[in-house]
Amino acid sequence: MNYQTPRGTYDILPEEAGRWHDLERVIREKTKLYRYREIRTPYFEDTAVFKRENDSSDMVNKEMYTFQMGSDSLTLRPEGTAGVIRAFDQHKLYGSMEMPAKLYYVGAMFRHERPQKGRQRQFTQFGVENIGVKSPQIDAETIALGCDIVKAMDISSVKVLINTLGDEESRAAYRKALQEYFAPHLDELCGDCHRRFEQNPLRILDCKVDHEKEFMKGAPRLSEYLNEESRNYFDEVLRSLDSLGIPYEIDERLVRGLDYYTHTVFEVVSTRPDSGAQATIFGGGRYDNFVSYYGGPDMSGIGFAIGMERLLQLAADEGHDFNDKDDAEVYVIGLGNVSGEVLKTVQELRAAGIAAEAGLTQRSLKAQFKSADRCGAKYIVIIGEEEVKNQTVNLKKSGEKEQVSIKGSELVSKLKEWSEQ
Ligand code: HAM
Repeated sequence: MNYQTPRGTYDILPEEAGRWHDLERVIREKTKLYRYREIRTPYFEDTAVFKRENDSSDMVNKEMYTFQMGSDSLTLRPEGTAGVIRAFDQHKLYGSMEMPAKLYYVGAMFRHERPQKGRQRQFTQFGVENIGVKSPQIDAETIALGCDIVKAMDISSVKVLINTLGDEESRAAYRKALQEYFAPHLDELCGDCHRRFEQNPLRILDCKVDHEKEFMKGAPRLSEYLNEESRNYFDEVLRSLDSLGIPYEIDERLVRGLDYYTHTVFEVVSTRPDSGAQATIFGGGRYDNFVSYYGGPDMSGIGFAIGMERLLQLAADEGHDFNDKDDAEVYVIGLGNVSGEVLKTVQELRAAGIAAEAGLTQRSLKAQFKSADRCGAKYIVIIGEEEVKNQTVNLKKSGEKEQVSIKGSELVSKLKEWSEQ
């Protein structure tokens, strides 16, 4: 029987792992500079953590991996924010952490979507949540962090799309206007949009089936229904982005696929022509009512999540150097019955912090040189029975003929001397 990865999942093979390490290193460096701290929450939660009352998003209604274990309904996390807010409330982090609490996470998410380029069923997100203080400057700072990471991966063909969903009062007025506008077109809307019409008519604007239809163009705009407070808040976010020199485009159609957002929402998209339909590298926004939903205090938060597979693909497309060489520094070759001595020598090198590989079975000199080459070793140590007797080793630079015979005890210092030349 030949088994394959399930549809929408993939293996990260050793030759690709170095790219992930590179991105993870950038993430740790940047989050440290912004003073975010890591939080790790379970890969599954009670279904109710994700399936919130009246949620109209496709993610919650169509794409969740939900399973029953005994009397428990559990769901593989489709995103990170819900689990982080649940943990923030459960552990009363609002009482113990300095506010805003700045949390980040890296890990797998699961959505039963139709797989295509840039869209998997298991994918990896790096996300941040900045919880407890509401300020337009924090919104701009959060976007800046995401942009910093994208830039550090040498991705420059991007644009920031931004919009505001306003506060509850603004959205209620808009919702009414949308329902009035769409009511005469109900027959022309898809089945899902009928549900959206009742639950959250904003979602209709985002519908993959209906968005091209002619009457969509005349739909009322949220900006016409923003109250003064919401408008001022958004203006201040934009001013802060201006002052940081972060260019953006206001996209009034940007409503985001999740239900918890209020005020600022944003996406950073690739502008490369080859990035296809899944061009969004990261998306996020502010949420005013999420923390209290799980029983926590009335606190606002903002966050985003980066799709790491998409980011890595774009970094590769833009020629980023992943710094992912894992060559050996030294290869130890044994000639004759000396495997024990070869093992001892290679362990001494490793103990001295030198990446080393060795032939631990008896093989021909030619075969071992070939292995040394494949490992990318810069230096070759050769040990034969004579060397074992004399407690010496032969050392040479890879690709050069000349070799020196030195005491085994001097090997590490000699290698250091050579590598500093
Ligand atoms: P999201 O827009 O659903 O937001 O996902 C964020 C990013 O995850 C997307 O921009 C994309 O890069 C990546 N992504 C999403 N689905 C897939 C998929 N099926 N395959 C590959 N990549 C994917 C959230 O998840 C929110 N939790 C973000 C957030 C944090 N909002 C506030 N805080």
